[in-house]
Amino acid sequence: MAKKKYKNWNITNDEHGIAWLHLDVPKSSANILNEQVILELDSIVNDLSADEPTGVVILSDKESGFIAGADINEFTTFESEEAALQNIQRAHSIFNHIENLSCPTVALIHGFCLGGGMELALACKYRIAEEDSSRLGLPEVKLGIHPGFGGTVRSIERMGSFSALDLMLTGRNLKARQAYKTGLINYSVPKRHLMTAATQTILNRPKIKSLPWWENVVNHKLIRPFVAKMLVKKVSARAAKSHYPAPYAIIDLWSKHLNNRSTMLEEEAKSIAHLLVGKTAQNLIRVFKLTDTLKGLAKDKSVSIDHIHVIGGGVMGGDIAIWCALQGFNVTLQDQRHETLAAVIQRAVKLYTRLLKDKRLVNSALDHLTADINGNGLTKADVVIEAIFEDAEVKRNLYKAIEPRLKKTAIIATNTSSIPLEQLTDSLNKPDRLVGLHFFNPVAKMPLVEIVVGEKTSKKAQQIATTLTKKIRKLPLPVTSTPGFLVNRILMPYLTEAVTLFEEGVPVTVIDKIALEFGMPMGPIELADTVGLDICLHVAENLAESMPITVSEHLKQLVSKKILGKKTGQGFYAFKKGKLVKPKMKSNYIAPPDIENRLILRLINETMACLREHVAETRDLIDAGIIFGTGFAPFHGGPLQYVKERGQDEVLKALEHLEINYGSRFKPDSGWKTIKIE
Ligand code: NAI
Repeated sequence: MAKKKYKNWNITNDEHGIAWLHLDVPKSSANILNEQVILELDSIVNDLSADEPTGVVILSDKESGFIAGADINEFTTFESEEAALQNIQRAHSIFNHIENLSCPTVALIHGFCLGGGMELALACKYRIAEEDSSRLGLPEVKLGIHPGFGGTVRSIERMGSFSALDLMLTGRNLKARQAYKTGLINYSVPKRHLMTAATQTILNRPKIKSLPWWENVVNHKLIRPFVAKMLVKKVSARAAKSHYPAPYAIIDLWSKHLNNRSTMLEEEAKSIAHLLVGKTAQNLIRVFKLTDTLKGLAKDKSVSIDHIHVIGGGVMGGDIAIWCALQGFNVTLQDQRHETLAAVIQRAVKLYTRLLKDKRLVNSALDHLTADINGNGLTKADVVIEAIFEDAEVKRNLYKAIEPRLKKTAIIATNTSSIPLEQLTDSLNKPDRLVGLHFFNPVAKMPLVEIVVGEKTSKKAQQIATTLTKKIRKLPLPVTSTPGFLVNRILMPYLTEAVTLFEEGVPVTVIDKIALEFGMPMGPIELADTVGLDICLHVAENLAESMPITVSEHLKQLVSKKILGKKTGQGFYAFKKGKLVKPKMKSNYIAPPDIENRLILRLINETMACLREHVAETRDLIDAGIIFGTGFAPFHGGPLQYVKERGQDEVLKALEHLEINYGSRFKPDSGWKTIKIE
């Protein structure tokens, strides 16, 4: 073959006549299948088919892995469904061409092999993956689409219907061993054997295992509609079709077209082109990019953190210490009470065992967490995280006592959920070392951490807090030190409106159902019960001083009777063994028509106020914070994106209407008139 030069591919030929196609996308830490990579591959495959080698191996020269997926930036550039379809069809014909080469083809995989990368591997005759590092999958559904380069067809052919549908519908990744068991790859081998395995596979062309006999039963055209019905039922329990159409499209493709390969390939292309330009995919792609924006905020490479000292081993401090130790930091945890520290260690054992499974890994994580009643860790700490009682005086006294023991460069990060930093700095000699690090409950599950920047907080303290957040695999969001910061501030009007609706006689199940139908991950009443009614009351009372929210009398009474929600077994709902017991809904109950608007527009009006006040710097950061801090329906792309799609004027009109009907709490923020959401 004539030696051509490519920007992304380097081709070598060995003594057996095997062509090795090395992918190394320039200026990128990971390989992605962008248009240029695919077009170059087209040219390579054309040359190969004109003069076929003994075999072809596709591999990556990147340390990070094989191919991380298609280039999602290109997903947002299609001007029409037709343009998207043409693009997809071109990739189809190239992948078909690879599949039709008569010489054996091998995808030699290490690290990430996802999405379009997995589909390229599936177009090869054999897939060999490195046993430790490989992570394989078809996660497209998380972006509101499905595999589109023939992956729906080929994954089913290689793995069988159930395994392939499960892989595509959940979007989960498989390690090499699981991928081997399910038939996604042919061999899982140690790193040192990768090259030999590829060479021997090409030279010997081993027979490929066939699928079990019962696959034919499941796949029978008379059986498929029943299985499809079951699958739809399962999917609809997690995601409504109107919000997330992609999993339904996967089931549809399988159920309608499995009998005819070429039709299924054509329909796959049409279906993904349709999804790609749709609202859900575009918003989910936006959300995906927002995670990158947040991670990108931790850019100070000079920050080095080794030791973290946490003070306060309660609900939050304990969990923060457990999480930081799990991420490999040396953590000392201080509390006033021995029993509290002992309880945290027990919690750590439980979580580490669940997540890490292997006893040696559990012990090694536990080695990073030390109970420290006397606060000996203070002198070594780079970061002190304070998570004691929510009381400004108590916090100030603590800072005064600990500051003389700290390293000169150490920062103090408070987990306060409502106290502006300006009220806490008095007792510090170096007030610029105080920053807020506002975690959400439960720490292990919630992805966001608000980095609260006070008037006196130094740039360095902010950068250390931001870097730490990224290093513990959370998303940092810088916010101003104003009451409620961003997330609690926008959440509280929404929650209090839900309680007002309840007080007006709307059943809790109806309120929650309407929020779920809008796309919230949990209804507001269930959320209040889960967070704890005492905590909701505390935050509401704090925020009521600066915002138009009325603290519910009913809520006060519940808290005074120690009816606190899930943790006491009773709140607005009853809980049995930690599980919510749903009361029966009256079948003849007719809900008032404006519940959704009342709930969502209060949240959105407060979001506008935060944008106007620059609580977070940009529109994107505000949307990101609210999605990752509250779970706000990701397919809407965030509250401000929702305003853009619904129409700013229309939202303003709806608020004005609600103000007339329900009073000044719906008064549109002045930002509606001065800021244009574009
Ligand atoms: P908690 O009451 O569960 O724990 C506080 C712990 O601090 C207790 O174990 C107590 O013994 C310890 N403590 C108090 N003063 C101390 C001192 N001087 N030295 C050492 N230990 C001391 O409280 P929780 O819920 O963990 O809250 C802690 C902080 O986190 C508060 O500022 C709260 O506003 C904030 N927060 C709470 C959230 C929640 O959902 N509970 C969510 C986000 C922030």
